[in-house]
Amino acid sequence: MSCTFNQLCPVLFGAGAAAETGRVAKEQGITRALIMADPKVVELGLTKKIEASLDEAGIPYVIYDGIETDAPDYTVVAAGKMGEEFGADGIIGIGGGSTLDAAKAASVLNGSDIGRDELLAPIPQFRPQVKNIMIPTTSGTGSENTAVAVVTNTETHYKTGVFALSHYAIVDPEMTYTVPRDATLYTGIDAMSHANEALCSAMNPNPNTDILAYDVFDRVFHWLPVAADDPENAEARENLAIASNAGGRAFADAPVHLGHAMAHAMGANYHIPHGYGCAWVTPVIIEYMADACPKKYLKVAKLIDCELSTDDPAVFPHEIAEYLRAAFKKWGLPTPKDLGFKREDFLNCTEYTKNEIMSTFGLKKPTEDEIRELLGKVYDTYC
Ligand SMILES: [Fe+2]
Repeated sequence: MSCTFNQLCPVLFGAGAAAETGRVAKEQGITRALIMADPKVVELGLTKKIEASLDEAGIPYVIYDGIETDAPDYTVVAAGKMGEEFGADGIIGIGGGSTLDAAKAASVLNGSDIGRDELLAPIPQFRPQVKNIMIPTTSGTGSENTAVAVVTNTETHYKTGVFALSHYAIVDPEMTYTVPRDATLYTGIDAMSHANEALCSAMNPNPNTDILAYDVFDRVFHWLPVAADDPENAEARENLAIASNAGGRAFADAPVHLGHAMAHAMGANYHIPHGYGCAWVTPVIIEYMADACPKKYLKVAKLIDCELSTDDPAVFPHEIAEYLRAAFKKWGLPTPKDLGFKREDFLNCTEYTKNEIMSTFGLKKPTEDEIRELLGKVYDTYC
């Protein structure tokens, strides 16, 4: 059977790369730019390097700094409007997943006659976009290299996958040095969760996504605890930045599924950072899915130095899951109980998870009862 390797957009990678934003924007034909960021990123001064680079390239810009967690639809609309009023022909997103997703979605709205309702319509389609450049300030989402922007529909409270391309990514590990320890952990494990779900995705899995996913497991497992303890460790931050981007490229082909449907439910219901949900569910997804592609997970075990007692697919996935849970706890990832959750809170995510279409994209399609059982297991095994 043949398969397609999608390579979505060029990536400029390396320490200090953000200082080349002006040159890249010029090459992309951008003459007036809308910068999108959240207030924290602006406060930390992370937009300064990009502003200086645009100044040097003679590209005027305006900054929208109202991005909120989970990219609510109204922020996307407001940013698109600001870009339009400024006459922007390019959008530069600087931030974590919410910002990059909002920026990609705004590049669909900016300068078009598409409104909020059309943007969120459940008909996946590519539309014309103004050029965008995505500059991540966390290592986790890989959103700078995917064709989907997750936007929160504030009327239904569901997260909606909007088809919106990244045109160019600038991945500069130095932009991640200020990420605090907890966010370093949960964003890093989010990258691992992308690799994990790409491996057991039923939608266009291919050798390329497997190669990327294996590498993400290796890099995240070995470098995440180093970066958490030593935030300005250049080697660790560089490894996590490439892992995050590779994770995005893996699931651009082989989409995430059940784990992300569960994490989206937790985020929508309780407004926790996306990475917490992804981290908690990842071991359970391995326990549920790995026997559908056991050879891949025997390889994963080797890459993360997990010694297995058996290669029996009915047993070894549980050993990998336990090993990962122990590592996450050792690194300092809080448990659901630490954050005040009760078992019932997780069970209450069943319906949302079932209604997320992506919950069926994995090698196994869970029933509603199985979803409830898995959510309960996520809670039980993490407390
Ligand atoms: Fe994710």
